[in-house]
Amino acid sequence: MYGFIRSLLFRLPPEQAHSVALKSLDLIEKLGLAQRFSPSVPATPVTAMGLTFPNPVGLAAGLDKNADHVDALGALGFGFIEVGTVTPLAQPGNPKPRMFRLPEHQAIINRMGFNNEGLDHLLVQVDRMAYRGILGINVGKNAATPVDQAESDYRKGIAGVYSRADYITVNVSSPNTPGLRDLQFGDSLLRLLEAIKDEQKTQQANHDRYVPVAVKIAPDMDDDGIRFVANALKSTGMDGVIATNTTVSRDAVAGHPLAAEVGGLSGEPVREPSLRVIRGLRAELGAAMPIIGVGGIMDGASALAKIEAGANLVQIYTGFIYRGPEIIGEAIRAIDSRLL
Ligand code: FNR
Repeated sequence: MYGFIRSLLFRLPPEQAHSVALKSLDLIEKLGLAQRFSPSVPATPVTAMGLTFPNPVGLAAGLDKNADHVDALGALGFGFIEVGTVTPLAQPGNPKPRMFRLPEHQAIINRMGFNNEGLDHLLVQVDRMAYRGILGINVGKNAATPVDQAESDYRKGIAGVYSRADYITVNVSSPNTPGLRDLQFGDSLLRLLEAIKDEQKTQQANHDRYVPVAVKIAPDMDDDGIRFVANALKSTGMDGVIATNTTVSRDAVAGHPLAAEVGGLSGEPVREPSLRVIRGLRAELGAAMPIIGVGGIMDGASALAKIEAGANLVQIYTGFIYRGPEIIGEAIRAIDSRLL
């Protein structure tokens, strides 16, 4: 079924296909037909970050940046949905075209640049939704905010979404906001994570509720980088880590006509780099800190591989575009078979 829908969607430019697909999904959900597109998924609860997830397979950030489609996406069987990246102020993102399909590699290159309607819009949408599952809200910084003032945007994001989120993701790993990924290293990372912990404590006191914070990192990191990040996450008391975002490497797609497009590469080519980071993090972190594994999950086996590498939960973006909703049940069942 999705194969046919995909053949129609893939005739459109990627960004247009994205918008048509999400609007159609909204309609299907309103007509009460969403379950037909996602055959029943088994209940396989997982506890992490103090939350009980109905199953370990979530939707990764970036597909629903503004939380405009959560009800429709939530009806497909995901164990959790992460919306955003949201920035304090609305911003247009980079000029189009900014999303490219590489079907030969089951991959996407994007340089969207955090196009989004801003924090106020997202909060209105979250208040409107009927979805009662686990909602992560991913926060970032506006392109116009200098990197040395990034802390202030992250504080605004955390404060803004605190009362609505089940968990908050701090995104320091998009390749499409200049300078952002520098925040993953050295003193910049430590200072930022300390500020984030401070903001979390302030909001906890304000709201009398503890909302866990996870940090989303890039796959383009050497072993020292992974070790440093792991220690920084532990020493600053972060609640989890999401590994990984897209890669800037083009090794896996060298020679493809679109390989030179600037942006982050996702899908099959990021699978191994993400696994490497997950393994490295797990070795450094010990068993305690939850890892959400993301990058190149295109079927059940690649979902299970994330868990075997040390992830507690997984997320999918590009595999959902290529495979449609059936990948959700497939991933849950593959992971479930291992956990049984
Ligand atoms: C993304 N991703 C992303 N991540 C994030 O934290 N904030 C964002 O706004 C976006 N935006 C975004 C747009 C597009 C078009 C793509 C393809 C991806 C990254 C995404 O959540 C995920 O980490 C990577 O894509 C790797 O997973 P997959 O796609 O290989 O399953």
